[in-house]
Amino acid sequence: MVDVVGLGCCCFDLLGVVPHMPGPDEEIRMLETRQQGGGEVATALVTLARLGCSVACAGKVGDDAFGNFIRRELDQYGVDTRHLLVEPGALSQASVVLVDRANGQRSILACVPTYSELQASQLPTQLIEQAGVLHLDGVHRSAALESAGLARHAGVPVVLDADVLALEGDISELLRRTDTVIASLAFAGSFAKTEDVDRAIDHLLDYGPSVAVVTLGERGCRGQAEGRRFHHPAFPVEVVDTTGAGDVFHGAFIYGMLQQWEPGKTVEFASAVAAIKCTRLGGRTGIPDLQQALRFLRERNSRYFQTDGPEGGHP
Ligand SMILES: Nc1ncnc2c1ncn2[C@@H]1O[C@H](COP(=O)(O)OP(=O)(O)O)[C@@H](O)[C@H]1O
Ligand SMILES: [Mg+2]
Repeated sequence: MVDVVGLGCCCFDLLGVVPHMPGPDEEIRMLETRQQGGGEVATALVTLARLGCSVACAGKVGDDAFGNFIRRELDQYGVDTRHLLVEPGALSQASVVLVDRANGQRSILACVPTYSELQASQLPTQLIEQAGVLHLDGVHRSAALESAGLARHAGVPVVLDADVLALEGDISELLRRTDTVIASLAFAGSFAKTEDVDRAIDHLLDYGPSVAVVTLGERGCRGQAEGRRFHHPAFPVEVVDTTGAGDVFHGAFIYGMLQQWEPGKTVEFASAVAAIKCTRLGGRTGIPDLQQALRFLRERNSRYFQTDGPEGGHP
């Protein structure tokens, strides 16, 4: 049994800080580089592992150097990778991420993996049915749909990271099998065909999830849970790189769900963990452990996290 099973994107990131984004025909020197794993679901699982949860990752990599790297790094974080299948002869998913030194904004060049989609028959059925939460990002679509159906049938909450990659194809059926959808602004706007965040939240809720959140980068997030609309600003921090902020937000949000925290506390915790991540280069380097996250929240005078304790104080 594990706290969270994730099925989705597991990729390799080559990150470089640049003095400015290169123009056509321009060659520039990167100021700092890092190689690490990425992907919506994979980085959310790493966040949960850092916070002390047991997690398992289902998905695919190729048997290339990137695939080996991705697996090994997940293993090092304590993620169970027995269901991360290796496809012989296939190329793994890899990205080049350029981070602008001036403001931490990034440009991503993603290459398309050549492995076939994970089949529903390859899912760790029992693990999913006994998990605390199932986390999806829309990758391996038919297996994702099947796993969401299995989870719901077993009473396991389904969380969906709806980001622009998930835009490919129709995700309405997946949304119908989702309990908590946390979408990026780019996805929500384009899916709901509106620039109005509240209308986008309504549109997501129309498909049936009980919780819908739209993350707004440095403007924080806005959403609805338990029938109430909320907004949470981003914590001001010295931003180095926002890569993976959304992925980490999802992981920390799921942590709050597992603790059965009220929505306000969960959103505050997720915002804090994501903000701390932004202070370091790469999607994973800056992910705090639970004590670091709680210390940050106390320093910021969070009303939910004023006392010590395994859960950070009052429910
Ligand atoms: N510059 C920032 N400063 C502090 N927190 C941030 C910053 N950017 C993102 N975050 C936090 O991370 C969350 C997710 O970031 P966002 O950029 O919206 O997601 P994604 O990485 O999927 O595009 C935000 O809601 C916010 O809480
Ligand atoms: Mg995202």
